[in-house]
Amino acid sequence: MPRTKILFQCQSCGYSSPKWLGKCPDCSEWNSFVEEERVSKLKTRKAAEPVSLADITHTEGDRYSTDIHELDRTLGGGVVMGSVVLIGGDPGIGKSTIILQSLKGLSRLGHVLYVSGEESPEQVKLRAERLHIRSDNIILLPETSLEGIISVTQKVKPRVIVVDSIQTIFSVDLPSAPGSVGQIRECATKLMFLAKKQNIPLFIIGHVTKDGAIAGPKVLEHIVDTVLYFEGDKGSPFRILRAVKNRFGSANEIGVFEMAESGLKEVDNPSELFLSEKPDNVPGSIVTVSLEGTRPLLVEIQALVTASSFGVPRRTAIGVDYNRINLLVAVLEKRVGMHLGSMDIYVNVVGGLRIDEPAIDMGIVAAIASSFKNQSINREFFTFGEVGLSGELRAISQAGVRIREAAKLGFTRGIVPVNNMQTFDNYNIEIIGVKSVEEAIEILFF
Ligand SMILES: Nc1ncnc2c1ncn2[C@@H]1O[C@H](COP(=O)(O)OP(=O)(O)OP(=O)(O)O)[C@@H](O)[C@H]1O
Ligand SMILES: [Mg+2]
Repeated sequence: MPRTKILFQCQSCGYSSPKWLGKCPDCSEWNSFVEEERVSKLKTRKAAEPVSLADITHTEGDRYSTDIHELDRTLGGGVVMGSVVLIGGDPGIGKSTIILQSLKGLSRLGHVLYVSGEESPEQVKLRAERLHIRSDNIILLPETSLEGIISVTQKVKPRVIVVDSIQTIFSVDLPSAPGSVGQIRECATKLMFLAKKQNIPLFIIGHVTKDGAIAGPKVLEHIVDTVLYFEGDKGSPFRILRAVKNRFGSANEIGVFEMAESGLKEVDNPSELFLSEKPDNVPGSIVTVSLEGTRPLLVEIQALVTASSFGVPRRTAIGVDYNRINLLVAVLEKRVGMHLGSMDIYVNVVGGLRIDEPAIDMGIVAAIASSFKNQSINREFFTFGEVGLSGELRAISQAGVRIREAAKLGFTRGIVPVNNMQTFDNYNIEIIGVKSVEEAIEILFF
C-alpha cells in the first residue's frame, strides 16, 4: 500500500511544509498554504543504464514547421519532436487561437489530439470554422481527467497533443482541486513523460495570474522545454509571442501578430507597423532601435512632461521599467540640468511592446527632453545607446544590425554611442557618434 501523508503546500511557489503557515518562507506570499495529500510512490526500481555521449545517435532535423513562420521562429525554427511547449497569456489574448491555427500545419504529421477542458467541441468547431481550419486529423477530446487523457492517447496514438488548459486538468490520485499546485505539477509531469516516451510534441496552455506569472508553481516552467508568453494590449490588435525560456533555441525571440476576424495574422515587418502612426512635428516622440532575439525592431518612444499639480510628482512607465525611468530622469536633472523635479512624467512604448533592453535608454531620454523643451525632434533622427549614471552614452551590442534596419526604413541621421563607431560600416546615412547625453541633446535640439 502506498503511504499517504498530509502536506501543506504554497499555491504560489510549491513550497511544502508539514504544518500550515501564514506566510510562505520561500516566496513570502501570505495565506497561500493549502492542505494536499502526497502519495509516497517510492518504489525500488531498476536504475537507468549510463551511456556514452558519443554513442547517442540523435539527429537535429527532428523539427517540424507549424506553417506559421513567426511561431516557428519563436520556437527556435519549428517544433522539436518530444518537446513540451507552455503557452501562457492573459484571458482572451488568443492562446487557443494560435494553437488551433498551428494545428493546420501540424496535422499533416498525423492525428492531433486537442484536449479541451474549457470549451465544448462545438465551441472549438466554431472557432475552427472562423479560422478556416478543416482537417480530418484533428481529434477533439472534451476531458479533464488526466487518466482519461492518457487512456485515449493510447487508443488514438496522436502525433501531437494539445492541452487547453493545464489548470482544468486533474489527476484522481490527488485529492486537491484542479488548478492547485499539486495537481498542476502532477499532471504536467505525467503529460511530459508521455510526450517524451512517444517522442511527440506537447503543447500546454496555461493561464496567468493577476501579476502576469503563469498560474501555479514556478515548477511548471521548469518541467517544460519552452515557455512562450502571449502579450499585447487589449485595445490594440497587435499580439507579441515572446519566448522566455527555450531549450531548443534563443530565449529572446519574438513573433508579432495581428488579431483579425479570420484569426492571427503574421506581421512580416513589425518596425513598419509600429511606426505607421508616428505623428510628425510633435514634441516628446523619437524612434529607437531595440533588438529582439535576432531581429532589430524600430519602436517609437513617447514621453509627456507636465507640471505636477500634486506635491509628489507622478512617474508612469508603460512598456519600460519604472525604475529605469527614475534613473534616467535623475541623469537628466543632474548631468543636463533639466529641472524635472516638479514635473509629472509619462513614458510609453508605442504598440503595446515591452522592452527591457538598456539600448533604448537614449530614446527615452530624448523623448523626455523633447517634451520638456516642447520642441519636436526632426523625423530623420533615430537614436540608441545605454545611458550611464555619469551621463555617458555607452556602447551596445549589434549596432550595425540596428543601423541597417533604421536605414532600411528611411531614417537618415542616427545618434549613437561613440564607441559603437568603431564597427563603422558604410550605411549611406549620417551616423553621429556622441560621448554623452548632453552632447546628444545638443545635436537633437540645436
Ligand atoms: N469574430 C471575431 N472577430 C475578431 N476577433 C475575434 C472574433 N472572435 C474572437 N476574436 C478574438 O479572439 C480572442 C479570443 O481568443 P482565444 O479564445 O484564442 O483566447 P484565449 O487566450 O484562448 O482565451 P482564454 O484564456 O479565455 O481561453 C478574443 O479576445 C478576440 O480578440
Ligand atoms: Mg482559450
